[in-house]
Amino acid sequence: MTQRTITLRRPDDWHLHLRDGEEMRSVLRHTAQVFGRALIMPNLKPPVRQTCDALNYRRRICQALDSSPECGHFNPLMTIYLTDDTSITDIVIAAASERILAAKLYPANATTNSAAGVTDIGKLDPVFEAMTKNGLALSIHGETLINARGKEIDIFDRESRFIETLDLIIRKHPGLRIAVEHVTTRKMVEFVQAAGPNVAATITAHHLLYNRNALFTGGIRPHHYCLPVLKREEDRQALLAAATSGNPQFFLGTDSAPHARGTKETACGCAGCYTAHAALPLYAEAFDTVGALNRLEDFASHFGADFYQLPRNTGTVTLIQKSWTVPLTYPFGNNVLVPLRAGEEVLWQVAD
Ligand code: NCD
Ligand code: ZN
Repeated sequence: MTQRTITLRRPDDWHLHLRDGEEMRSVLRHTAQVFGRALIMPNLKPPVRQTCDALNYRRRICQALDSSPECGHFNPLMTIYLTDDTSITDIVIAAASERILAAKLYPANATTNSAAGVTDIGKLDPVFEAMTKNGLALSIHGETLINARGKEIDIFDRESRFIETLDLIIRKHPGLRIAVEHVTTRKMVEFVQAAGPNVAATITAHHLLYNRNALFTGGIRPHHYCLPVLKREEDRQALLAAATSGNPQFFLGTDSAPHARGTKETACGCAGCYTAHAALPLYAEAFDTVGALNRLEDFASHFGADFYQLPRNTGTVTLIQKSWTVPLTYPFGNNVLVPLRAGEEVLWQVAD
């Protein structure tokens, strides 16, 4: 039997955590060898709040790339982190840089390194107005933690409860381009579909491949814990349907989020799945389960660039249906990380 292959325009990853320093240098190549661009998340410690912070961070990434000639095509694009103190001037300066594509809204304490996030989204209206006026997109971690009566919201409902907040932002700022990051629920998918072309959503490979049972298969599985947390099978099915539908509102964002093994395999483990080592092959696996490989190029290489009003990449990558076993660990600074599927098979690989 001949091997199945698929060639697509070089893809982009519109949601990526690279961390910094030696850790960044350990993981960068996994993304940069395959993807043309990635939108780099700003949740460092301390967060990347200002344009100058983002451009300095970008410089460090580019310096790390200099030693990798096979990554010469890779262009990291940046985000700034919204806080209660973000000013209109901060927005105007960020929007003027072609390296900065979005400002990221983390509701305070919603996820890893979000303690400096926004405590009262209602107060951001002048910031959103400036973003609309200056053409800077809003990237959102869409989860609400506490309801109006001060009660904690169930972790599996936090994304769907964010819909009311998102709806309010869209009503007040219809011209604002919004990327709802790593959507995980049928309800959010349906909301985005109804919201029109200014609103888009990224979808991770792990949310396309796993439901919440994966957190507890035979015991607790810290490497499947991420935020927003994996949801029900019916949600996974809705994500897969959206990703393979040809609707340009849905595109690739891995949310690959490296953490040292010891910070996940512990009494209080960090949120985040590492998928950059196998990102495109994992998406191919997911698309192939519903016979939709012909839709992968739009999702991976076209719709995100269109949303961010950037040219599509030139060049191609080829995937081969040939299984390989994922290493148990990869180096991560002075530590190691445990990648998704560690010790297990991935059915596709990127051709050299
Ligand atoms: C991300 C991280 O580790 O930075 N974690 C995650 O579970 N996805 C943060 C985020 O995107 O929520
Ligand atoms: Zn993320």
